[in-house]
Amino acid sequence: MDAVEAIMTTRAMRRYSDRPVADADIETCLRAAQQAPSGGNVQPQQYVVVTDPEQKAVVADFYRRAFDRYEAILEQPREFRSDDERRSFERGRDASRHLADHLAEVPVIVLFLQARIPWEPRDDDGPMDIGRLDASVYPAVQNFCVAARALGLGTALTTVIRIHGDEVLAALGVPEGRFEIAALSPLGHPTGNFGVAPRKPAAAVTHWNRWGDKRR
Ligand SMILES: Cc1cc2nc3c(=O)[nH]c(=O)nc-3n(C[C@H](O)[C@H](O)[C@H](O)COP(=O)(O)O)c2cc1C
Repeated sequence: MDAVEAIMTTRAMRRYSDRPVADADIETCLRAAQQAPSGGNVQPQQYVVVTDPEQKAVVADFYRRAFDRYEAILEQPREFRSDDERRSFERGRDASRHLADHLAEVPVIVLFLQARIPWEPRDDDGPMDIGRLDASVYPAVQNFCVAARALGLGTALTTVIRIHGDEVLAALGVPEGRFEIAALSPLGHPTGNFGVAPRKPAAAVTHWNRWGDKRR
């Protein structure tokens, strides 16, 4: 598949069939993730691939509890600009709930861990802002998702699991205090179709040479 087409049709897939995922495909996605850039090539990520049904149930239970808590404070946008926008919001909300209720049944759950390492260079003038360390992990997550898409597999970058992050890491035997969870993604054969998700047009948010100078 053409790279741009894979990128354009990579979106949050939250409903899966129980068709298994080949180990070779999981490994291809992980190799793609590992090719992502990172600040100073520090590569602060580790992956935990969960396929064992009992371990998946443990992670999924924490995910559901985290989502329950998050969902309770989600506010509905008061006004939608169109029926399409309302439907899109409702579809996303229902699909998110579905994933939270069915994560244990997805063939693969991948956790993207970020090392807890000092990331604030300083000199005599003080600390330097060179960007956050997680900026060196999310490119790997997105590479993973795009590679999966190219193989016909669905993913969804999610972060709500962080609410129970330390408990999940402990349950998976991750050494205490050394990592945090940057993201969790299901991986499997989606039941729905891939497609181009609604987004603001690039031209609407692009400024050429000076702020405010836009092209149509
Ligand atoms: C940083 C980040 C965190 C997210 N966390 C969650 C999450 O916890 N649960 C979830 O179902 N989706 C999560 N998502 C998925 C977004 O809801 C989704 O990317 C967005 O609604 C666009 O979906 P679409 O690509 O299908 O249009 C997250 C996405 C990002 C980038």
